[in-house]
Amino acid sequence: MGNLPKLPRPTEMAHRLLSERIQKGDTVIDATVGNGYDTLFLSNCVGENGCVIGFDLQAVAIEKTRERTGNRPNVILHHSGHETLDNFVAAPVAAITFNLGYLPGGDKYLITGKASTLTALQKSVTLLKAGGLLTVVAYIGHEGGPEEGEAVSDWASSLDQDNFSVARYEFQNQKNSPPFLLAIEKRP
Ligand SMILES: C[S@@+](CC[C@H](N)C(=O)[O-])C[C@H]1O[C@@H](n2cnc3c(N)ncnc32)[C@H](O)[C@@H]1O
Repeated sequence: MGNLPKLPRPTEMAHRLLSERIQKGDTVIDATVGNGYDTLFLSNCVGENGCVIGFDLQAVAIEKTRERTGNRPNVILHHSGHETLDNFVAAPVAAITFNLGYLPGGDKYLITGKASTLTALQKSVTLLKAGGLLTVVAYIGHEGGPEEGEAVSDWASSLDQDNFSVARYEFQNQKNSPPFLLAIEKRP
């Protein structure tokens, strides 16, 4: 019994979906680098000929991510909000990931916000190449989280079915407002 697999958490499910989709040499975006775990994962997915472009509002997050990824040449970090991502990325990208909320171990009041998140998501679907994948993990346990989560979910639900497939993954019976994952595929 001890070795039976557990259902993946939303963050793990996001990594599974991203790893299936990303090819070596791809360019991808980490819209919220935080402590750098997702950036490191993406850097391994794209390999040395690919590129991860990362964003965070907090200098400490950029610093932590730089440390975690060991200054890899395939990681480019911008100390800037993800709502500005179109100032830095022009070509279509294979995948984009958002991990909303606050920096674990950091300032709990410096959180992603509904308006800038929606702006960034709208820009992201434009930047995504055909067949590309956007993942969003939304946390709804902190102040402002439920409003942001609802807005993101409403936005994703409104995407045109002819051009996008949208799926949602979450635990249904957990206490304490568990996070959920949205996976958005731009149809080829
Ligand atoms: C849940 S953490 C990300 C965790 C990260 N993906 C990891 O693997 O450690 C959310 C991050 O979003 C950042 N953030 C908040 N608003 C932002 C914005 N407008 N643009 C980019 N990052 C933002 C916060 O500073 C925080 O570091």
